[in-house]
Parts: sequence; C-alpha cells; structure tokens
Amino acid sequence: MSALTTVEADRAAAREAAGDVDEAFLARFDTQFPRLHSLFTRLYGDRADGSEALAAVVASAASSWIARPADLKAHDARREADPAWFQSERMLGGVCYVDRYAGDLEGIRAQIPYFRELGLTYLHLMPLFDAPEGDNDGGYAVSSYRRVNPALGTMEQLAELASQLREAGISLVLDFIFNHTSNEHEWARKAVAGEPGYEDFYLIFPDRTLPDRYEQTTREIFPDDHPGSFVPLPDGRWIWATFYRFQWDLNYANPAVFRAMAEEMLFLANQGVEVLRMDAVAFIWKRLGTPCESLPEAHLLLQAFNAVLAMAAPGMVFKSEAIVHPDEVVTYISPDECQLSYNPLQMALTWEALATRDPRLLQQALERRHALPAGTAWVTYVRGHDDIGWTFADEDAAELGIHGFSHRRFLNDFYVGRFEGTFARGVPFQENPKTGDARVTGTTASLAGVEAGDPHGEDRVVLAHAIQLSTGGIPLVYLGDEVAQLNDYTFADDPDHRGDSRWVHRGRRPDARYTERTDATTTAGRVFGRLTRLIAVRKATPELGGNELIGFHASAPGVLGYQRPGDGSVVLVLANVGDHAAHVYPRTLSGFASSATDLVADTEVDLSEGLTLPACGFVWLRVTPR
Ligand code: GLC
Ligand code: GLC
Repeated sequence: MSALTTVEADRAAAREAAGDVDEAFLARFDTQFPRLHSLFTRLYGDRADGSEALAAVVASAASSWIARPADLKAHDARREADPAWFQSERMLGGVCYVDRYAGDLEGIRAQIPYFRELGLTYLHLMPLFDAPEGDNDGGYAVSSYRRVNPALGTMEQLAELASQLREAGISLVLDFIFNHTSNEHEWARKAVAGEPGYEDFYLIFPDRTLPDRYEQTTREIFPDDHPGSFVPLPDGRWIWATFYRFQWDLNYANPAVFRAMAEEMLFLANQGVEVLRMDAVAFIWKRLGTPCESLPEAHLLLQAFNAVLAMAAPGMVFKSEAIVHPDEVVTYISPDECQLSYNPLQMALTWEALATRDPRLLQQALERRHALPAGTAWVTYVRGHDDIGWTFADEDAAELGIHGFSHRRFLNDFYVGRFEGTFARGVPFQENPKTGDARVTGTTASLAGVEAGDPHGEDRVVLAHAIQLSTGGIPLVYLGDEVAQLNDYTFADDPDHRGDSRWVHRGRRPDARYTERTDATTTAGRVFGRLTRLIAVRKATPELGGNELIGFHASAPGVLGYQRPGDGSVVLVLANVGDHAAHVYPRTLSGFASSATDLVADTEVDLSEGLTLPACGFVWLRVTPR
C-alpha cells in the first residue's frame, strides 16, 4: 500500500496502470490527471491506500475507453465539437417510469414515434436497475448497477434502446444513484458480513453513541419511514440510511468506494447513456458536527467523477439533483462538476406565484438567481417525480416582507386543500410534527385546478409550462403532464406504495387522455394542443435557448416579466399569474418599438395602447428595443 505523493510520481504509477492506450486517451489523461490527483490528495491524502486507488481508477478509465463502442466514440467527438449542445432552444426533455409509462423497455422503444411527435431530445428514464422486491423507492434502492430489473428488460436491450434513441435525436438520461445502494446490493451483504475489503463500504456503528452525536446536526429526510439518519441492523449495530431503511449510504471517505462507484459509472457510460443524473448529491460526505449536507468534499467527489468521465467518455455530462437552499444549488454547477442542474427554486416559486397570484418572489429569483457559469444550463421543470419542497431562501422572502416559515405553511395548506377556496388538489408528503415541515405531491393538472374544475385550471397548466419553456436551459416535461394527467389515488391500495404519497402523481400512462390529445373538445386535447404549440415556437426561437435573462417590471399586479435577449432582438415574456385580466400600460412598454410579434399567436401586435393579459394568460413577444 502506498499513500499519495507528488503528482509526477503518482502520474507515472497511473500511466503504467493504464497500460496500452491510444493517443486520444493519453491527451485527455494529460489534461485530467493533475486535476484528479489534486482532488484525490484533498479527499484521500491521509489514506495509506490513496495512490493505489488513484492508479486503479485511471486503469479502469483506460480500459473503459478501449472497450467503448465506436459509435459512442464518434458521438463523443460530435459533443466535443459542440459543447454547448444542451443550451440549444431545440432541447426538450421528457421523464417517465419505464414500467408505469410503457410496461418495459420494449414498450419505451415503441413510444419513440410519440417522443418524436412531442419533440423530445432528452429522455430521462427513472431508475430501471435491479432492486429489492416490493417497496424500493421507485427503483432508487439499487441492488446492481449492471443489471436491469428483469421485469423491465435486459442490459443489452437498454444499450440497444440508447442507440435507437440517439438515432431519433434523443439523448438517454439515467440516474447515477451513488449516495446509497439497496441493502441487498452485493457490497451491502459483504459489508454486514464483515468481508475483508468491504467493512468500510458503508457507515456502520456498534451502538448509538456516534449516531446520536451525528443526529444532533443532521436533518430528517424521510421521517415517515424512520426518525433520524440511521437504522438498526438485526445484530444491534446501526447503519447510516438518509432516505429509506433499505437504502444504505456509502462511505466515500474510503477511496475503494470511489473506485467501485467510478467503475459502475464507466459501465453505464459504455451502454450509451449520455447524461447521468447525479442523485442526492448533497448527502455524499458526512462529518460529525455538521448537517452532513453539501460539505466541501461533496464537490470534490463530483469533480473527481467528472474528471474520470472526461477521460473515458468525454461526450457525457452530469446533471445535479440538489434540492437545497438556492445558494447551495448553484455551487454544484460548473463545467468541471455538474454541467446541468435541476432548478428547484424556479419550480417551487412558479407554484408559489400561482397560489398567491403574486409573482414577486419568482421575479426576484429570476433576476437574482438565474445566472449560471458559461458552459452550464438549468433543467427547468414544472413537476417531477418527487414532492414540491419550498426551497426558497428566507432572506429573499424577508426582503419582500414575507415570513419564510409561515409562508411555507400557507403554501402547504393551499396545495393540500386545507386552505379555503384553493384550486389545488395535492397531498401532503413527509409531514414532520417536530419541525412543522412538510412537502406537497400531486400532478401538475391536479395542483393547477383541473381536478377541482377551476375555470383557470387548464390555463395554469399552460402558463406554468410557458414560463418553464421560456427561461432557457433544458425544459423537462413529466410525461403525462402534457395531456393534463390527474392524480392517481389508487396508490393507497398498493402496500408497496401507500407509505409514500409521491405515488399519487406517478400514475400509469393515461392512455385515454393520450387518445384525446388531438380532440380540442377535451381537456387533454386543449392542453396538448397549446403545449405543443409552445414547444414548436420555442424550437424556432433562438432567443429562448441559452440562459441570458433580464428582468422586466411590468408594473401591473400579478404580471411577471423578463426579457430573453438574442442577436439584435429580444423576446419579452409577460405572464399573468392572477385570476383577473391585467393591463400593462403603454409607458411601461415604451422602451420598445410599438410594433411587436406575438410568437405564439403568430400575429403582429401594436404596443402603443399597452397590452391586456387575460387571467392566467401570457405572451412571448419579439420586440425591438428603441
Ligand atoms: C432522490 C430521488 C428521490 C429518492 C431519493 C433517494 O432525491 O429523486 O426520488 O427518493 O433520491 O434515492
Ligand atoms: C429531499 C432531498 C432530495 C430528495 C427529496 C425527495 O428534499 O434533499 O434530494 O429528492 O428529499 O423527497
């Protein structure tokens, strides 16, 4: 065993371990190795086995590159020539569960014509790996990263699907669930059995002494399942489990864990996955006396995975799933760490604005928290497979005279139907009586008022997407939302799902609604028609790509405003979150030439009389600054 030393010495060892490789790999090794070495030194500098682990990781990267199929290498080259590919206005994401949307992988393949009809260029399939029978957190408890859940298909089918999707212009996105494995994973079994080499793969404690101390500063994530961050093993020991009791957190302080997970990542890379959604990034490093969330080492680890990928699969990118304070969300986003990130703030504040009919918090977030480093992008979403957590910053809210804690209470009440006159039909998730915290579940249509028969329900569904589709980055649609899928309350009858109310918005593909999608006399038809129009307009509007955004104060109650500058032109978005028509006065619009184009209606409009937006209405205007 040897510890890390100088970059030169460790480089020579790593180069030797890499063996016979081509020039292309060596060039990337030269660029990435010093970075990886410095990250390893900071993470594992005090470990006796640091140098071997680093050399082994490089050796795995080299053999993965050698084994990488030629079509994927060609794809890497295309990506390297166009690193801004994901910032294009033509990008559109979709996400679904394989089983619930299409039965199995073959069913997903059969949906490719529909994905093309919708305009998808990015498809996130929810976790499809081998997982424990019964409750497995929708597949987030992974028992093997190399085996597809047999009910869904095989790894060969997955690789085949990835290439069929690529031919259709759609990038396959899969989760990289690297914070934890299921309790049935081979590593977990070996760790519990004390098998040499695996004892330190997880965080196991002989008694409650350390768990009690850690729990003084950690947050309860799934309190319905178990209190605190640990669960007991049958023999009386305690193991770290942030989420479900059957999901055990890996111990990244052990370099063998990094190495093992890097190998699983490289395996997935060579199946043709193009984007890895880095699950639960905030939780991957623990230190006593801290919240054990978003510690500096979490970033170092992501950067180290990024460097490994850059050597072995240079066309791939990471997407961060950090559902945390907005100051923290952005710390994960950079070309060297995660190029893409969910935008949970914009998601939550869109719902906040719809409930309050007041767009100020969303306006403030767009003006203050939208900017990103070059070479990165947001993934925007109206709804995902998870709950809505009200992740805005209390400091931001306070500036507007809004009290964070009570506002979250109100929002929870509003969206779970406890607020009189609400249009929403949501369900509470993980209510924690100790902290007063709770989150909300429900489909977009049910939360927006369609289920309740609210007269503006459909308009709100479209409005929320109109905001999402016009702020830049990759808009991600939760498939089913585009046909206004409603809540599925039958989850309560399923013993595997009844303990987790997120299943209320994870219903099966609503076939009847899809059949109605071309019939404008139905809700599904109207919503689908309006959303596909927006998608088509977005794809033809370069200003809506990228990430540049400038606030625009509409000076009309309820109206959100922003500008998306392009090459010599600007798209002005005005969105009325209120239930009444709103008028934007001519003076407010006087910075623009009076003649403008309404891109969605495809008509010319005259701004000299101002502009009236109907309740829950919006415009995307191409304007000319005077
Ligand atoms: C992520 C997933 C969520 C899951 C959790 C634990 O946050 O989005 O669905 O429960 O990780 O894996
Ligand atoms: C918490 C976690 C997030 C996870 C979510 C699932 O918010 O921070 O990672 O997706 O729980 O409910």
